[in-house]
Amino acid sequence: MPTYSRISGTGSYLPPRRLSNADLVAELAGRGVETSDEWIVARTGIEARHFAAPDVTSSDLALPAAQAAMQAAGVEPQQIDLIIMATSTPDMVFPSAACILQHKLGIAGCPAFDIQAVCSGFVYALTVADAMIRAGTATRALVVGAEVFSRILDFNDRTTCVLFGDGAGAVVLEASDTPGLLASDLHADGRHVGILCVPGNVSGGRVLGDPLLKMDGQAVFKLAVGVLEDAARATLAKAGKAPEEIDWLIPHQANIRIMQSAAKRLRLPMDKVVVTVAQHGNTSAASIPLALDHGVRSGKVRKGDLLLLEGVGGGFTWGAVLLNF
Ligand code: UT7
Repeated sequence: MPTYSRISGTGSYLPPRRLSNADLVAELAGRGVETSDEWIVARTGIEARHFAAPDVTSSDLALPAAQAAMQAAGVEPQQIDLIIMATSTPDMVFPSAACILQHKLGIAGCPAFDIQAVCSGFVYALTVADAMIRAGTATRALVVGAEVFSRILDFNDRTTCVLFGDGAGAVVLEASDTPGLLASDLHADGRHVGILCVPGNVSGGRVLGDPLLKMDGQAVFKLAVGVLEDAARATLAKAGKAPEEIDWLIPHQANIRIMQSAAKRLRLPMDKVVVTVAQHGNTSAASIPLALDHGVRSGKVRKGDLLLLEGVGGGFTWGAVLLNF
């Protein structure tokens, strides 16, 4: 039985429609919603985001990301024996977006399921895939984060609609005799459901409640910086590693100020942090694999590097994964 799992390929995809802050500010002005490029950049670091066309779903975005990851790994779809998709914006109530992605990949038979942990979804999914590989129930997993958050944004609420974007990222995680994933640390605290949620649900053929994103940004911010440090330190301790050994910190891309704080608390310089929030905005479960793929394809992240991935989001959920790339 293999002792470890290791990432053998990464991929990502952004829908073509890119909105700069200026584009979004102009669109919102048409609705009487006032914001500015200066406010968005100063408070978040976001300069632009991508929005999917109205008929494009999370599994549509996941497909090219998954294909790019499989191509990078030199793996054919038929060799995949597990699909886990992290998403909070699935194509349908059911079946899972992972099953729909499986069909779009032209394969059948392997287990496929979604994980719903909002912006922590990818670290949750990677941890589950690693456990299944180490248990011998899978050998070659496709782990995807894909979101169309533009569908659940309230464009009359300037405190949230300027923050999010759509996109997908994916990795192939394979059984390995050499260490890849070294440790992970996952948490949830349901007492904080109300600070970041989409409270609507489907009942009797109708949507009950409000199906748009609500966030108490300051409450999320305060919780996020503390729990990210705790998860990072716990993960490093489990693997017997020190923060200064990290080659790249790849955090959830919600706000540059949260990432700066996370790096500072670990005494890591910002040039050891992969930052994509400026161009992608917050893509929830897609943000970490998108940033990872960006780091790999830009030549920053190299084989053998020690990576710390960390996510935080609705639930409240948070966690980190430490790995040898
Ligand atoms: O992905 C899951 C994790 N999510 C996060 O990590 C998000 C965490 N939170 C944040 O990133 C920040 O709290 C925000 C970016 C959401 C907000 O930044 P902030 O520095 O906490 O701003 P604030 O909420 O304290 O608002 C400051 C001011 C307020 O005006 P007053 O009350 O001071 O007059 C807001 O009404 O900024 C105003 N404001 C805006 N102004 C222009 C809020 N949104 C906007 C806007 N444009 N879009």
